[in-house]
Amino acid sequence: MMGPARIETDEESTTRMPFTLEGKTALVTGAGRGIGRAIAKRLVDAGASVMVNDLDEMMLLESEAVLAQPRRVRHITGDLTEASIPEMVVHATLSEFGAIDIIVNNAGYSWDNVIQKTTDEQFQAMLEIHLVTPFRILRAASTYIRESAKKEIAASQRVMRKVVNITSIAGTDGNPGQVGYSAGKAGIIGMTKTLAKEWGRYNVNVNAVGFGLIGTRLVQPLTDAGAKMQMHGHDIRLGVQPSLLDSVKSACPLGRLGTPEEAAGAVLFFCSPLSDYVTGEVLICGGGLHF
Ligand SMILES: NC(=O)c1ccc[n+]([C@@H]2O[C@H](COP(=O)([O-])OP(=O)(O)OC[C@H]3O[C@@H](n4cnc5c(N)ncnc54)[C@H](O)[C@@H]3O)[C@@H](O)[C@H]2O)c1
Repeated sequence: MMGPARIETDEESTTRMPFTLEGKTALVTGAGRGIGRAIAKRLVDAGASVMVNDLDEMMLLESEAVLAQPRRVRHITGDLTEASIPEMVVHATLSEFGAIDIIVNNAGYSWDNVIQKTTDEQFQAMLEIHLVTPFRILRAASTYIRESAKKEIAASQRVMRKVVNITSIAGTDGNPGQVGYSAGKAGIIGMTKTLAKEWGRYNVNVNAVGFGLIGTRLVQPLTDAGAKMQMHGHDIRLGVQPSLLDSVKSACPLGRLGTPEEAAGAVLFFCSPLSDYVTGEVLICGGGLHF
């Protein structure tokens, strides 16, 4: 006689996944903290091996400890805006794991001001990290991706690979005070759509996730004592105007900031087989908020 069916707890039903990423290798940039670390965690939890990159070695080591899978996680420290680093990061992933199946271009920061106060250096810096860096990473990975896909296709196998580029509602909607940041984040959408067309024949899904306001150091209230980042000899203040944070709570249909884990959930969709027939798209993960 059969006993009564066991009812799953809420936690079991939300963590059980309808797919596995076992055997897949991912590269996640900017994974020393914030959304990048949460993305790496989602990927590791789904079974993938992950190379994490950041310019901040201390935070990267902390991420490795949090990910807690020493055999499936490696790190490579480096400032991706130095021209040779993107290629080095791709090669390190290939030499450590022998493959790259998933690339998440997440590393980023904001260096904000209105246009009349934005220097050439500041504007270029935003294009370098949000646009030139993903371009260099994807170009460096292209030989491996094309050659692997050609062999798989010749063997009648369809192996899907995944690129997820991180953008922002500042890129899709524009945002005052972010002329460089929003230009970079809009540009990456053009790259996403073009590569979706170039790499469809190689079975690569190329998509973008655009965030609204997610609770990381990038959206802390901007104060002199708040978070700062050292880049190329500049102390860059990170954060947003406190008034913007207040207005977001009323303008956002969900009435709150998102968490890094929620942000990583949208990225995981594009890294998983659930999105195998989606390419060239931008998914906004912002609680319904638009600027
Ligand atoms: N937090 C938000 O509300 C929000 C909204 C829209 C888009 N985004 C985007 O999400 C991504 C992640 O942001 P976050 O909120 O987690 O920020 P974060 O500051 O918490 O984390 C970003 C990480 O990227 C790293 N990084 C920055 N420049 C780098 C470089 N040149 N080389 C290597 N690593 C570098 C930083 O050291 C940091 O650890 C960024 O692309 C950001 O623009 C965030």
